[in-house]
Amino acid sequence: MPSQATTTAIGHEQTCLFRTYARPDFVLECGEGVYLYDTEGRRYLDFVAGIGVNALGYGDAEIVRTIAEQAPRLIHVSNLYHTVPGGELAHLLLEHSPGFDRVFFCNSGAEAVEGALKIARKFARQHQQRQGQGANHPSDEKTALVAFEGSFHGRTMGAVALTSREKYRQPFMPVVPGVRFAPLNDLDGLEDAIGPEVCAVFVEPVQGEGGLHVASHEFLRRARSLCDAHGALLVVDEIQCGMGRTGTLWAYQSAGIQPDIMVLAKPLAGGLPVGAILARQHVADALAPGDHGTTFGAARSLPRLRRWWCGG
Ligand SMILES: Cc1ncc(COP(=O)(O)O)c(C=O)c1O
Repeated sequence: MPSQATTTAIGHEQTCLFRTYARPDFVLECGEGVYLYDTEGRRYLDFVAGIGVNALGYGDAEIVRTIAEQAPRLIHVSNLYHTVPGGELAHLLLEHSPGFDRVFFCNSGAEAVEGALKIARKFARQHQQRQGQGANHPSDEKTALVAFEGSFHGRTMGAVALTSREKYRQPFMPVVPGVRFAPLNDLDGLEDAIGPEVCAVFVEPVQGEGGLHVASHEFLRRARSLCDAHGALLVVDEIQCGMGRTGTLWAYQSAGIQPDIMVLAKPLAGGLPVGAILARQHVADALAPGDHGTTFGAARSLPRLRRWWCGG
């Protein structure tokens, strides 16, 4: 028989929370390293790791100490102000991500994808203006987006539009329009999908939810050159496959390409809800003050992560 504490916790969740998840009938209470413990004292070897979040396991002493030191100093201030940790983490990320020049912090993977989408749309509009091609008619607009079969980019209206599985999109139609799904690792399909009307191509170097499909180096390189040829941005989604999981810090690096934008989240802050958009300077310049924002912006008062992130 489960204890009263277990029954009460399950009861509260089942009656109060949206029914968006079908959870098993145990209640997790704490964790240590690779193990989780439930309210009955049972131990679980955790292969889920918060769906790719808890890369350093549970109760990591350095993370705990870092958070405990920062919490009484400052938990949140607005993005309107400078703080020490925000700039420090951005600097650290850029130091380890050659070719990227700017960082925007947010709170989740989907939010980072949404931000990348907005940058792509505005960058394309400016690109057209520079080239003297006014977007007078909707069909002149450079607004099409390319994603891949098996992709997963998140649950918000833009991110879910880029997510190939129909069941995630269909109930919420219309989602952001203009997305075409090309087959992964099919060079001809890639050529067909990327034309002058495309503003961005979103690719996971290793698909997670899609079933661990690896985008070949040749495929990533061709995507890069087609984006260059058609003035589209190449956005790599490293939310699940990044942070050293494939041998290089970022998975795209082994293909020898330089993306225009990289989106990050999941393990970036060891369990704190932090997402990030990294962009090349001329791409980041598409956004002027006031164009984009977020209240929490995660890293405004993040603990100083340097000591444990990347072993720095
Ligand atoms: C590759 C990829 N992109 C984006 C997301 C969305 O991230 P979040 O759930 O933090 O919004 C996920 C989440 O599983 C993901 O695996």
